[in-house]
Amino acid sequence: MCGIVGYFGSKQASPILVEGLSKLEYRGYDSAGIAIINEGHLKVTKCKGRLANLEAQLLEEPLMGNVGIGHTRWATHGKPSDENSHPHTNEKETISVVHNGIIENYIHLREWLMSKGYKFTSETDSEVIPHLIDFYYNGDIVDAVMKAITKMEGSYAIAVITSDEPDKLVAVRKDSPLIVGLGKDEFYVASDIPAVLNHTREVYLLEDKEFVVISSDGIKLLDAEGETINKEIFHVTWDAEAAEKGGYEHFMLKEIHEQPKAIRDTMTSRIVLGEPITLDDINITKEQIKNLNKIYIVACGTAYHAGVVGKYVIEKLARIPVELDIASEFKYRDPIMDKNTLMIVISQSGETADTMSALRLAKSKGARVIAVTNVVGSAASREADDVLYTWAGPEIAVASTKAYVTQLIAMYIIALFFAQSKETLSNEEIEEIKIAMMELPEKAEEVLKNKETVQKFTAKTYMHKDMFFIGRGLDYAVAMEGSLKLKEISYIHSDAYAAGELKHGPIALMEEGTIVIALATQEAVFDKTVSNIKEITTRGAKVFAFAPVGHTEIEKSVFSVTYIPKVMDILAPVISVIPLQLLSYYMAIQKGCDVDKPRNLAKSVTVE
Ligand code: G6P
Repeated sequence: MCGIVGYFGSKQASPILVEGLSKLEYRGYDSAGIAIINEGHLKVTKCKGRLANLEAQLLEEPLMGNVGIGHTRWATHGKPSDENSHPHTNEKETISVVHNGIIENYIHLREWLMSKGYKFTSETDSEVIPHLIDFYYNGDIVDAVMKAITKMEGSYAIAVITSDEPDKLVAVRKDSPLIVGLGKDEFYVASDIPAVLNHTREVYLLEDKEFVVISSDGIKLLDAEGETINKEIFHVTWDAEAAEKGGYEHFMLKEIHEQPKAIRDTMTSRIVLGEPITLDDINITKEQIKNLNKIYIVACGTAYHAGVVGKYVIEKLARIPVELDIASEFKYRDPIMDKNTLMIVISQSGETADTMSALRLAKSKGARVIAVTNVVGSAASREADDVLYTWAGPEIAVASTKAYVTQLIAMYIIALFFAQSKETLSNEEIEEIKIAMMELPEKAEEVLKNKETVQKFTAKTYMHKDMFFIGRGLDYAVAMEGSLKLKEISYIHSDAYAAGELKHGPIALMEEGTIVIALATQEAVFDKTVSNIKEITTRGAKVFAFAPVGHTEIEKSVFSVTYIPKVMDILAPVISVIPLQLLSYYMAIQKGCDVDKPRNLAKSVTVE
């Protein structure tokens, strides 16, 4: 959460910083600001609200200069306000800092600095940083930043400029992402690659406590001791266009439509008919897989819902017990793990603080960790023993869609890989599943072609304040994701229930006109699901069902049914989630909500 950018070069910094911030708004958009050095003076413009507010201010009063830093905020310490916006400065307004992360010992630092006469103007933890740097500043900004970070506990990616050394930009990170973009005689720093892609494809991915010092002499990378380090340049292969809307009204709709490709890409070279599954970045041996006593799947939000499917398929196909945990809860239950335990973390961003702290706990207990992530070079990919990348491409909309379906594909791949190693499935059975998986992109296309059916449904129902999603088995897993999507972007309250559980409580909520979305894609429990549907329609519920083509018998029991392509039961979530994503999308549109930037949410949550 929070995005930072920095520019050092010969062009005007302001438009470059604002453009970079626009690519990072997914990290938060409670406020935005920039600081620029102009003719030896530091100038700051910042304000509460979306980046557009900042742009309007800059239009009225432009900031000139070639070196600057910028920030887009997701509030943690201190409400969204002008005062709490970044960049923060020291009292003399000579040092300016943007920060992503949380300074956990900020209260202590604040009191200590106040005892030395420093005055604070915001409620943020971040404001201690410019004051701390000021305290140590003795004509050398690099030295002062190095000293300051030795006092800071918590997580940070910071970029610092000072009018006392106007041709310098310093940045450093710990537990928050930071990259450096390398242009021709110009340099960029940013929380994420899309912020620099319009300018360069050559980047450094900084590790914890690595510094970048940019000056008119060029660029230097330093370790925590101030020693120069060399790093490989990472060449970004994905297209800048891929991070843009590409003709769709919203990123979310674009990303929903990218799912067939994302599914195909994630399977490429991993699911090949007639060949065993080999996974490049997974080095766990056959022996280690055979010795696994347990797997924990740990994740947050949508990634957690992919984990619900993961548990089901890994247990079913590879016969290894799987426990599923919400990352923020994991460490509080003293999990039992040893070297024969595997943790699979699922994280689109690979930066989610809760997920990372679960990963670190597992590693400290000697467990092996596989990261399923969408971001190359992310913290999860670096800290895990093995990585399985989901090739969804950059996901910008806060509500995750294409990342989710690729996470499902990753779960199938891992389940099959383990089943192959443990020989819990025959080669024929594995091939049969692989063939069915290869048909998924085409079936996903079919669902997308019928999106009008879902659109019509939302026109009739968007005024409802409550809805329910029900299903059995894997349909229940998808119901949870459908319900989360609806809440996130249309602000309609919804709950997901296992259809068989309705009679143990939720059925009390069913009355004339209650809207229920029922998933009935699982052949094995189809009849039982229909029975549950009947139980609630007799109590007045209006049930909208999603069922596989051919199951026309369901029509008698529901208000309306949308048919979706028939696929193997275990693969159904990949297909059945798509109409639910569309449903939330069109509901949000009908209600006039900001689809890509739902209130109070951030895409990448880097605080616990
Ligand atoms: C936030 C996002 C969700 C996402 C979750 C986990 O809450 O709003 O869309 O599912 O974080 O993110 P991750 O990057 O770890 O998958």
